Amino acid sequence: MDYEKYLKLIKNDFHSVVVASSDENGNPITCVIDMMLADSNGLYFLTAKGKDFYKRIKENPNISLTGFKGKDTLSSQSITLKGEVKEIGKKFLDEIFTENPYMNEIYPTEESKRALSVFQIHKGSGEYFDLSSKPIFRESFSFGNIIGFNSIYFIKENCIGCGECLLVCPQNCISSKKIPYKIEQEHCLHCGNCKEVCPVRAVVKIKNESN
Ligand SMILES: Cc1cc2nc3c(=O)[nH]c(=O)nc-3n(C[C@H](O)[C@H](O)[C@H](O)COP(=O)(O)O)c2cc1C
Repeated sequence: MDYEKYLKLIKNDFHSVVVASSDENGNPITCVIDMMLADSNGLYFLTAKGKDFYKRIKENPNISLTGFKGKDTLSSQSITLKGEVKEIGKKFLDEIFTENPYMNEIYPTEESKRALSVFQIHKGSGEYFDLSSKPIFRESFSFGNIIGFNSIYFIKENCIGCGECLLVCPQNCISSKKIPYKIEQEHCLHCGNCKEVCPVRAVVKIKNESN
């Protein structure tokens, strides 16, 4: 899949996202960070060198972020991503201010920008999740030469086509045209009902390579 489409969606549509990093004890800690640029090499944000956030991501470059938009649950979409950041300093700083002119109100002078440093999320994997479409839609992606893995439910060859799983699937996303039945992964909620009711244990949860 086209990961750049999702990186651009994070930058343009979600923009202010919640970023999780690790504190000095290895515990998770979150803050809101704006995603300022996106290209085929990743996502870019900036922070100031005096911030605890700066210290945290220098000590441990592994982060996770979630952005979402919508006025209520059933009109919302989210993207979650985990990846690694690297500091690129002043590179792209001018582009960031050009692309996000509101930043001039926060850091109005050249002098006031001196503490700012740009970071690139240069590799990662994530998932887009859309609760506003019926059935729900989800798609995973990865970038920066890494292979991302996500858990999926999968129906094995020993499916007997009994139909028990069809009755409990909240999204009607199991195709029974052929045996073994097939789960439409892009619409699956991962609730696990199908695995629970399968009389022959044909449904398994497996790690799947994301694109
Ligand atoms: C909407 C919004 C966007 C923000 N964007 C950024 C950002 O892009 N970079 C940044 O360093 N801080 C940003 N902040 C502020 C951080 O969330 C805040 O500094 C954070 O809690 C880290 O603070 P600390 O490192 O001093 O603990 C933003 C805050 C809000 C409310």
